[in-house]
Amino acid sequence: MTSRAPQARVTKAVIPAAGLGTRFLPATKAVPKEMLPLVDKPAIQYVVEEAVGVGLTDVLVVTGRGKGAIEDHFDRSPELESHLEAGGKDTELREVREVAGLARLHTLRQGEARGLGHAVGVARRHVGDDPFAVLLGDDIMDPAVGVLAGMLTAFEQRGRSVVALRRVPPAQISLYGCAAVEVLGEGPLVRIVDIVEKPHPGDAPSDLAVMGRYVFGPAILDEIDRTPPGKGGEIQLTDAIRSLLRSEEVYGYTFEEGRYDVGDKQEYLRATVDLALRRDDLGPDLREWLLERLDRR
Ligand code: G1P
Repeated sequence: MTSRAPQARVTKAVIPAAGLGTRFLPATKAVPKEMLPLVDKPAIQYVVEEAVGVGLTDVLVVTGRGKGAIEDHFDRSPELESHLEAGGKDTELREVREVAGLARLHTLRQGEARGLGHAVGVARRHVGDDPFAVLLGDDIMDPAVGVLAGMLTAFEQRGRSVVALRRVPPAQISLYGCAAVEVLGEGPLVRIVDIVEKPHPGDAPSDLAVMGRYVFGPAILDEIDRTPPGKGGEIQLTDAIRSLLRSEEVYGYTFEEGRYDVGDKQEYLRATVDLALRRDDLGPDLREWLLERLDRR
């Protein structure tokens, strides 16, 4: 395996958003799961803001049937804007305009729901030969922890793909991609030696789970094209990464705190409370109420 020159800056982000959201029914029957609110913003807005915050201003959302609300959310809304303007609601007007101006947002339809790997493969039409980051919408990350920023720096220095990894209790590993790694030093970067999608706990090569942030060079797209259906009959991104390992190094970026799986009801509630507690306008009152509430139990 040869070393490569540092890469150009990554500016493209791909957000797969074609999933059906079955874990959150009935709320997601008519509303895309990406549009469920966390306090007062839909989940996908946090993900787009995270991307933009680290310089990924060219954002592709891979959508599917029934996801029109996502496009509407990031588009201008002339009627709403003039209504707010006429009513002198300046703060709301600014917020509504800011969402539309956040990023250069593009959408592509996945066509058939053939799995995460397939959804990322569809992005080829947009990313071409450029490197890109993938951000899964179920995973909300605290930007203050700097996981994506650290992954981009690692990618730019090493010129190889980087996958976010976090330890999980062994019983939970079957919910995730799982990586066997070689430790490189003190820092968060490790080298991935093997990766498998949702192994049975007894077969898992480690307790390091793939979290929903990736930075890829264009080679992953060829691997996806060659990847047959895997777990659940779907084209798995993890399987494509496993094939990529045969021709080039892939790194893992390990972290501990600051990620919520908002597709899970318990974590959705925790994320909502944590995000609200951090807000100056809502946090202090909510904290007081929570303390009282818990005291009464
Ligand atoms: C997907 C990936 C899996 C990864 C997980 C992170 O699974 O296939 O490798 O660990 O996201 O959230 P999903 O949660 O879509 O089933």
